[in-house]
Amino acid sequence: MPDEVLAPNVELFSRNGFAGPNTTIVRAQYRPRFLRARGEYVPRRFHTWDLPAGVFAEPKALPVSILEGEGISFELSRRPAAMSFGYVNVWADELHYIVSGRGELDTEVGTLEVRAGDIVLIPRAVTYRWGEITEEINEYIVVTASELQLDPEGAPGTFNPDLHLDRPVPHGRPGLPVEGEYEVVVRTGDTFTSYFYDVDPIPCLDVVGAPLVLRFNLEHVQGLGVAEGGLAPARLMSSTSGHDFVFGTGSRRSGRPPVHHNADFDEVICYAMGPSPWGSVDTPGTVTWTPKGLLHQGPEEDVQPGYRAFLVETRSTLTMTPAGRDIAHLMETDQYGVHPAEGQTAAAAR
Ligand SMILES: [Fe+2]
Repeated sequence: MPDEVLAPNVELFSRNGFAGPNTTIVRAQYRPRFLRARGEYVPRRFHTWDLPAGVFAEPKALPVSILEGEGISFELSRRPAAMSFGYVNVWADELHYIVSGRGELDTEVGTLEVRAGDIVLIPRAVTYRWGEITEEINEYIVVTASELQLDPEGAPGTFNPDLHLDRPVPHGRPGLPVEGEYEVVVRTGDTFTSYFYDVDPIPCLDVVGAPLVLRFNLEHVQGLGVAEGGLAPARLMSSTSGHDFVFGTGSRRSGRPPVHHNADFDEVICYAMGPSPWGSVDTPGTVTWTPKGLLHQGPEEDVQPGYRAFLVETRSTLTMTPAGRDIAHLMETDQYGVHPAEGQTAAAAR
């Protein structure tokens, strides 16, 4: 198609993510469509629902990392039933996204009834456990060594904390003596230490002061829209180190993202909920990963009736874990489908 070949394509080369500086390059050829790649440094999409059930068969199974780098990891967890122990990550903050399910998240500062679409921020050193599970919980968890702070750009238009942010309800009762021992698993990076108690250590009578655990539902996060052209998505959170950012990247009125190099950040996007597909991505829990510096475009975001997604940008250089590799597919960087060179007949491939 000569018209397509001759039409100029605008490429954006950005340093420091959306902060810039930016360089615009105009080129005749459209470059995100690579024929194939040889080697390991390639974009991927993770089908998180494909992680075998056996990985979580043990009642004491812990979250499994699929992608990790210095100071950050992306993990999956599945909870069909209540946990019989407490868990506390003392070196890292945790962002829990509930891909599906419904249940009670019990923390040392109270309990939360959690449902699909919820994002729960659990700071380091807060002990928690899953209580009664109404419907199996599937979680995608972003674990950051640097403190993760909610600082929504464009609030209250993009996100209104006064309306949509809440916190656990204190138990208002003592922790009771247990039969035998109650275990709390303390996580320090990749190692674990167990403490044992003769009482349930989690319930609290009351909580005052600054909120510790925060929760909101992604359906209440609105994209920054513009009548014409494109606009960077709205930041939802950032880490105090300046190494990690979280953006709401759901549907919005905006031009399609430009072809771009994000020279300094790996991009990890979780497609959270529909009903609209986002390009070739239509299953909640699909995680796309574009390593830093690789040319990509990504699908149109201006779709109706809409979808919700969020992007984590990190300066860390990420690599797949063995569990991640098991559920990873080579990804094309136009519509974010499974790349045809992978040899699959995925509907996503163009
Ligand atoms: Fe990008």
